[in-house]
Amino acid sequence: MAEFDVIVIGGGPGGYVCAIRCAQLGLKTACVEGRETLGGTCLNVGCIPSKALLNATHHLHEVHENFEKMGLMGGAPTVDWGKMQAYKQDVVTGNTKGIEFLFKKNKITWLKGWGSIPAAGQVKVGDETHSAKHIVIATGSEPASLPGVTVDEEVVVTSTGALSLGNIPKSMVVIGAGVIGLEMGSVYARLGTEVTVVEYLDAITPGMDAEVAKAFQKLLAKQGLKFVLGAAVQGTERSATGAKVAYKLRKDDSAHEIEAEAVLLATGRRPYTAGLGLEGAGVQMEPRGQVQIDGHFQTNVKGIYAIGDAVVGPMLAHKAEDEGMAVAEVIAGKHGHVNYDVIPGVIYTTPEVASVGKTEEQLKAEGRAYKVGKFPFMGNARAKAVFQGDGFVKLIADKATDRILGCHIIGPGAGDLIHEVCVAMEFGASAQDLALTCHAHPTYSEAVREAALACGDGAIHA
Ligand code: NAI
Repeated sequence: MAEFDVIVIGGGPGGYVCAIRCAQLGLKTACVEGRETLGGTCLNVGCIPSKALLNATHHLHEVHENFEKMGLMGGAPTVDWGKMQAYKQDVVTGNTKGIEFLFKKNKITWLKGWGSIPAAGQVKVGDETHSAKHIVIATGSEPASLPGVTVDEEVVVTSTGALSLGNIPKSMVVIGAGVIGLEMGSVYARLGTEVTVVEYLDAITPGMDAEVAKAFQKLLAKQGLKFVLGAAVQGTERSATGAKVAYKLRKDDSAHEIEAEAVLLATGRRPYTAGLGLEGAGVQMEPRGQVQIDGHFQTNVKGIYAIGDAVVGPMLAHKAEDEGMAVAEVIAGKHGHVNYDVIPGVIYTTPEVASVGKTEEQLKAEGRAYKVGKFPFMGNARAKAVFQGDGFVKLIADKATDRILGCHIIGPGAGDLIHEVCVAMEFGASAQDLALTCHAHPTYSEAVREAALACGDGAIHA
């Protein structure tokens, strides 16, 4: 039995970052992880492998769409799915090994196995029980199930199975037009799969700025994705060539069926806390299954904390990382803090979609007076030069004070561009502050500045 200052349960982005920060702050730290590799869902079967497949298929799409226009002649390459999978795996391995290295460097003990909490101050891993002054639950989430849909991870898959299908299916039904459905749907559409996305609501990507969501759907449709909106999936059934998906249109309750070689269930994730023994330890839970915490990540049981997908809030790796650092600081007696008003969200399709802060819809609901500055990438020379003129930047500022309230981008490099606005928001900047900042030409980021100009006297190139 070893004694630690902190034991973090879970080695995903929340957990491993927390462990590193704890060690940096001089705390004797262990991290419990039952997978063969560190990095959790994100590195092993989520953010990172999906980005490898998005990258490979983005290049394929470029060959088909734009190479000839640039005078690059010759046939499109053939796809070696096995090799693409190996590339994806190399990317994953490189990253997971990197975290193992960081653990060694920071002298963090990796307790291999699945952990549980027999009592406050104790963590059981396998047959051994370790003691810790502080325990951080960072156990993440798992795909949510849907009544009537039986996942076999071969034909009917979650995001995990979708990353390593045995072959490229001719057709795929994606259930849920959220982030996972659209990212993975894009991957397969670019590989030639006929992709149909079936979504319960009347718009894709719920919660996203409605104007962006509309433009996004149009662009995805142009890339070949088909959408059935307002459709509640009732269940799936295996067929000779794949599976049938039954759904009802909400507008008239009519029943329909669609068959495909593969089905991706992407209707959200739920916190993963099974087997931790939280009930026995007396830890209070939220009605929707998350661990209940206070403003300092502390549960109702002294010395037990929780972060990331296991607690309330957006299920995003970077939100978990920030909470991991903050809770480490709280444990070390410092002032850990996360600004939940400035957490960016990114969808890594082409074009990328990114947002931070309030949407127009939210501001309307709050009855706040705001102004919008919009700038299309069609007016951005750099974007046009690389055939990325679709999309726009939409900056929202307070009508009276000009303080930036939110930004929504669909276009090239959106996932990186958004951070200039995040920093501005952290500093309480006005749209004019952004507009008065010199931006290098020609860059995509000029579109952000132009949107800021559009909040004032007007953009130059629109
Ligand atoms: P999501 O919550 O983003 O989207 C789920 C979609 O399924 C919603 O549009 C919902 O209306 C729809 N839906 C629910 N029930 C349905 C039914 N019976 N029939 C048809 N449609 C139905 O969930 P998703 O895409 O599974 O992602 C899970 C989590 O992982 C999210 O919190 C997401 O933010 C996170 N994630 C983030 C990524 C990123 O930041 N790039 C990438 C992948 C996942």
